Amino acid sequence: MYYVGPLDLLTAFHTALSQPVRPRIWSLREWAERAVRDGWCLLSDLGDVMEQQDPRIYHLERHMKEACKVFGVPIRSTLFRPSSPYSQSLLFDGLSVVDAACLMVTFEQFGFTVDPSPLVQLLSQRISGQQKLSSEEFSLFFYDRLRFRSMVTLATEQAPSNADVEVLQTRTGHRLEWRSDGAAQASLIVKGPRYRPRRPGTELTCDYCGLSYTRGDMDSSREHQRYHSRVRRCFDPSPSALLGRLFGEVGDLAYRVDQRSPKPLHKEMYERAVMFKREMQFDFIQWAAPPARGPIQEDAIGWLICSPDARSTIRGACAFREREGIWTMDWAWIAPNARRQGLMRALWPTLVQAMGNFPLETPLSEAMREFVSKHGTPTQQQQVNGSSSITGGSHA
Ligand SMILES: CC(C)(COP(=O)(O)OP(=O)(O)OC[C@H]1O[C@@H](n2cnc3c(N)ncnc32)[C@H](O)[C@@H]1OP(=O)(O)O)[C@@H](O)C(=O)NCCC(=O)NCCS
Ligand SMILES: [Zn+2]
Repeated sequence: MYYVGPLDLLTAFHTALSQPVRPRIWSLREWAERAVRDGWCLLSDLGDVMEQQDPRIYHLERHMKEACKVFGVPIRSTLFRPSSPYSQSLLFDGLSVVDAACLMVTFEQFGFTVDPSPLVQLLSQRISGQQKLSSEEFSLFFYDRLRFRSMVTLATEQAPSNADVEVLQTRTGHRLEWRSDGAAQASLIVKGPRYRPRRPGTELTCDYCGLSYTRGDMDSSREHQRYHSRVRRCFDPSPSALLGRLFGEVGDLAYRVDQRSPKPLHKEMYERAVMFKREMQFDFIQWAAPPARGPIQEDAIGWLICSPDARSTIRGACAFREREGIWTMDWAWIAPNARRQGLMRALWPTLVQAMGNFPLETPLSEAMREFVSKHGTPTQQQQVNGSSSITGGSHA
């Protein structure tokens, strides 16, 4: 983290941190429990508690408010619960318990021997049940993993460029670098005892699934793995056991999916609709994901398309929607490595037989336009010759 602060705050930090470390064993458990129960603590109390743990903080007493401002910790008017709404309560400078924990963590990162862990532990228990976190809660949630590994900087608006460097290794293993031009500019960099420079993540784009992600960043890599497998299930699918059972011995080139079909087949339709949307860069997914509970709402008719050599392996899908009483082809998507193998050509007569001499929802992709102009019915050919093609946008 990089903080910008006034020179007198930097000097006070530097002076305090240059004093010999005399940590005191002082359990904060009881204090932390009370703070969590109250939800708030007074800034003066927090200052006292931290000073008991590290007497060097005494030198910072009159800089506490400034430090909060610089570290982005909001101070709020806090009061003891009054007995009546008309009581003339005294207002004190206070911090929410989460902000108090963050302030303690920051002081620890700068090399003070304050121990935020009892407070952080209690708060983490509370946070672990939450689905949403503030950025302050997020930093507390990963406190154990990041403890002593940080590098923090406190510098004046313009950090000194040509300045003497004073390096100090404290008994706690923190490494301090103090730069000062002797006049108005200074900087203080503190590296934790377990600090290791992080290798910058490499930005990559996967050739297979097309997703851009950061190698070296766990969350980003995990996100990529999830998406990659999802794409693979549509691009290079394994045979569907359910479809195998439904098709029976004989099999067919496509399986019709409607409101009465099992949810797993709706899921297969939905996944292909996701691939179609992604490839065409449309705004909406044109098939509803089946709900975990309750009946299927999707009222379109879909076809899961298989290949003649592996009849329960789904190579693609297409969907029809009723528009003004006429079934219209809404979209069609064949996995890239199964294209130009005659799948759609072989299926088209079956589709025309089942859905009628259907029109196609426009705009059409160049591939579909080519396809229909060669293999569509005369009416369909007439339609594509008079329609525009996709330039990116919204429909099939
Ligand atoms: C359009 C799509 C469904 C066609 O399915 P397909 O199974 O690959 O088509 P077929 O193999 O049956 O093609 C039959 C003929 O149509 C024509 N054709 C198909 N795709 C074509 C393309 N990309 N460019 C030019 N002609 C094409 C060719 O004449 C082809 O015969 P050929 O391969 O012997 O030259 C498929 O390419 C696809 O899913 N594309 C991406 C999504 C898309 O564009 N959907 C339609 C949105 S409107
Ligand atoms: Zn990938």
